[in-house]
Amino acid sequence: MATFKTQVVSEAEKGAVTAAVSCLSKGQLVAIPTETVYGLAADATEHSAVQQIFEVKGRPSFNPLICHVAGPEMAKKFVEVDPISTSLMEKFWPGPLTLVLPAKKDSRIADPVSAGLNTLAVRCPDKEITRTIIDELGHPIAAPSANPSGKLSPTSADDVLAGLAGKIPLVIDAGPSREGIESTIVGIKDEKLYLLRPGTITAEDISEKTSLPVFDRDDNEITAPGQLLSHYAPNAPVRLNATEKQAGEVLIGFGDIEGDMTLSASGNLSEAAHNLFKTIRFADKSGLTIAVAPIPNTGVGIAINDRLHRAAAPRENP
Ligand code: TXA
Ligand code: MG
Repeated sequence: MATFKTQVVSEAEKGAVTAAVSCLSKGQLVAIPTETVYGLAADATEHSAVQQIFEVKGRPSFNPLICHVAGPEMAKKFVEVDPISTSLMEKFWPGPLTLVLPAKKDSRIADPVSAGLNTLAVRCPDKEITRTIIDELGHPIAAPSANPSGKLSPTSADDVLAGLAGKIPLVIDAGPSREGIESTIVGIKDEKLYLLRPGTITAEDISEKTSLPVFDRDDNEITAPGQLLSHYAPNAPVRLNATEKQAGEVLIGFGDIEGDMTLSASGNLSEAAHNLFKTIRFADKSGLTIAVAPIPNTGVGIAINDRLHRAAAPRENP
């Protein structure tokens, strides 16, 4: 694997877009900001660039990548849309909603992006500089979260460097990610919507805006191959639903449970999502077991609990 002196360029710097587009068009990887978490981007039409994503992350090749597009028009070049997906794009893009749709057969997207599936995941990030980079590159970018596979997703340029310094040439720094957890993923099959990964856009938000029910993920119908149980793993063990601290633990609080640090003192779930990975990373520095206060399993809490359960699961790749 090539080694680099990783450069960090602020989004406010004049040359930021040009630097990113120049690396991407040479087939190199760039860590890019999005409103959810930082992504590890490659030109989605360049086979060898996309393959480097899998190498740099240590990601299993069966786990497909999300294609980030500048808008619905670009998406429609690569996926088949129907009235439901068109309406979701209109209502939620740009924003943290990923759609898994049938891939167009003659599309130029490199094969490893969809890992052999006949679908493609598309998303339009709510981060202007990132859409500008995609626009100027003229191709979608494939981008998983910019962390070594199975580890915590990065919500700052420093988090990216902690996992990938020396492995990529460039990080575009846009400060802390607004949402803090990855996008909601939905699939559409036989005109029905399925939730494949919960996020800050909730199933209720989608139902409200589309007047359609959102069904739970059905493993037999649509698969999200990357949804391995052990994921988002800090180094330390994680204990959930902790109402008080035991010996050898650091406690992450929420609402009335104060803890050594808190996801949200006021019990606000969006704030808790924003702080989730950052707080677990910080707690992990203590070397102690990470205990986490109960999080209500409603609204955005469903996505937070999804990440917490994976963080606490027995490690598949110790
Ligand atoms: O917010 C996000 O979505 C971030 C930022 C960078 O955009 N990206 C992200 O990518 O979370 P990643 O690779 O960490 O997670 C992508 C998920 C995986 O679980 C993968 O299996 C699923 O999307 N996925 C991708 N393509 C798919 C497809 N064609 N069918 C089903 N699931 C797919
Ligand atoms: Mg990820």
